[in-house]
Amino acid sequence: MAFQRFHLLGAEPSTAKEVAVPTSASFKKVQIEVAKALDITTYKSVSFTTSEGDVLEKVEDVVEHPDAVAVAIDGHAIRKPQGPAPLPVVGNYYEIYPDHLHNHGRLFRKYGDVIKTEVMGKVVYLTNSPGVSEQILIESPYFSKEINSNHPLYGIRNNDAVFLGDTNKNWVVGHKYASASMTGKAIPHYAKMTHNELVKVLGVLDTLDARDESFNAYSLTLKIASQVIGKFTLMRDLHHLDSPESPLDDLVTDMVALLGYNKQVTSRGEWFGKLPFGPGKHLRDSSGHFHELLEKQLQLIKDDHEKNPRPDLDLETAAMDADCLADFFLRAADENGDKIPHDLMLANLGVLVGAGFTTTSSAMAWLLYALAKYPDCQDKMLQELVDNDITKDTEFTPAVLEKLTYLEKFLKETLRMHGPSFAPGRTAQVDNVVLPGGYVLNKGDVVISALYSIHYHPKIWNNPERFDPERWTPDFKPSRYEYMPFAAGGRSCIGFAFALQELRLFLATIVRYYDICQVGDEPIEYDPEFQLIRPTNLYIRARRRPE
Ligand code: HEM
Repeated sequence: MAFQRFHLLGAEPSTAKEVAVPTSASFKKVQIEVAKALDITTYKSVSFTTSEGDVLEKVEDVVEHPDAVAVAIDGHAIRKPQGPAPLPVVGNYYEIYPDHLHNHGRLFRKYGDVIKTEVMGKVVYLTNSPGVSEQILIESPYFSKEINSNHPLYGIRNNDAVFLGDTNKNWVVGHKYASASMTGKAIPHYAKMTHNELVKVLGVLDTLDARDESFNAYSLTLKIASQVIGKFTLMRDLHHLDSPESPLDDLVTDMVALLGYNKQVTSRGEWFGKLPFGPGKHLRDSSGHFHELLEKQLQLIKDDHEKNPRPDLDLETAAMDADCLADFFLRAADENGDKIPHDLMLANLGVLVGAGFTTTSSAMAWLLYALAKYPDCQDKMLQELVDNDITKDTEFTPAVLEKLTYLEKFLKETLRMHGPSFAPGRTAQVDNVVLPGGYVLNKGDVVISALYSIHYHPKIWNNPERFDPERWTPDFKPSRYEYMPFAAGGRSCIGFAFALQELRLFLATIVRYYDICQVGDEPIEYDPEFQLIRPTNLYIRARRRPE
């Protein structure tokens, strides 16, 4: 065993730490040991230099070097992420809002792959680097989803639930059941139910078409997506698609209000949310009302189980047998025969309702946008649907969906350019943790993987501003951290298989029967105060295609 002292390039040699290196160690082994000792998130970033800047490429040169060895990170000295100088009180608010997606892009170009922003007293770091994203998203001793007061989900944090809670004991339980309910194997059995709900929109579109009326895209897709999720999660018919005028169910208005108020609260600082009036109070009220509704709906399903008893099943079988997620949660037992505790079931169901429709409604609205904006793509998709004899009566098995290859490319490209999620945030768990590129953060610092900027990164995407479904050839496979509409790592989306199936069915249903055009040509705006990216002023005219 040999001993050598190592310090980070850019830090004083006096900070060097002694590391034991087995005599027969490979270069990789030395990198691994040094990364561990200096809290460098990945050994792959590590290289060794002398104080004169000479690179040490052999184990013996590293071990036998007479002085402490400097450790470069991807060739860099360590550095603190930079950002624009904050103004008093508002910080960088006016540098970032209202167009935070593009402004973040501008700041990455100016300050590098990891930037520091401060808005109303909240400091958040962002990255547009897939390498850094990988290190923050994998859930490790260095980074975890811990929702502290700087985290974008702080206002609606709920440590009893997936999505809204820290990676803690409750998350482990909730995640075990929730992810088992939505496996790739289980999701196809919801295709029929999903499709039955989706085709109800044809009646709404027929009525609007007969009246020669256009509609706000998001207002309608919110109804469609929540109609589907109401059934999928709670077996509840929200009657959103009975007519164009059908009102939104309280379950949905509460959740939409809750997210809207949260964004207002989190973009202005913690004190704002604690006020006994205004958005902070509305946030608390809508949350309470939403949970009352949920409890009532769960009771209805329990009553039904009392009348028509159904067996408890192991997780996998329950997922294949369940009528809806609540039915799964009530009947699924783990390997020890344990069921999910009631309070966790309630908290997780609430999150699944919310995460289920807020995301898919935005995604559907962007799909309408892409259909309207790229009529050639719409024509190609229609041709594919006709060639495959797709109608509203088609039974959508995985084998049928697999044949719709152009539809799949269109969906992937829309989720790249217009993914609804943009801000998975993770929190540093130790001081002086070193990320790829040499960026150093401290315990409690929140870093967001800026999905939008990654999906437009010119080093990853050829002609990123071009909507090009054809880029998705079978050989084109961006890495897991380069294309991640559903995030990646231990806390990534567990509803992605359901969402993708639903969006495929949505496209097949709409495009087969309707020609989609945008009304007016004003630039499309998105809501900067919302947790997800959704178009606010997209108006669509849907014309029935001749049979
Ligand atoms: C297009 C649709 C969707 C998109 C783009 C999307 C995106 C995402 C993203 C980016 C995350 C990570 C959030 C973070 O790290 O903070 C996430 C997590 C999650 N998603 Fe989705 N999602 C979609 C649909 C759904 C659906 C339909 C459901 C359930 C019905 C769902 C349930 C969840 C849950 C429970 C988590 C949290 C997992 C955990 O805490 O470990 N999502 N989703």
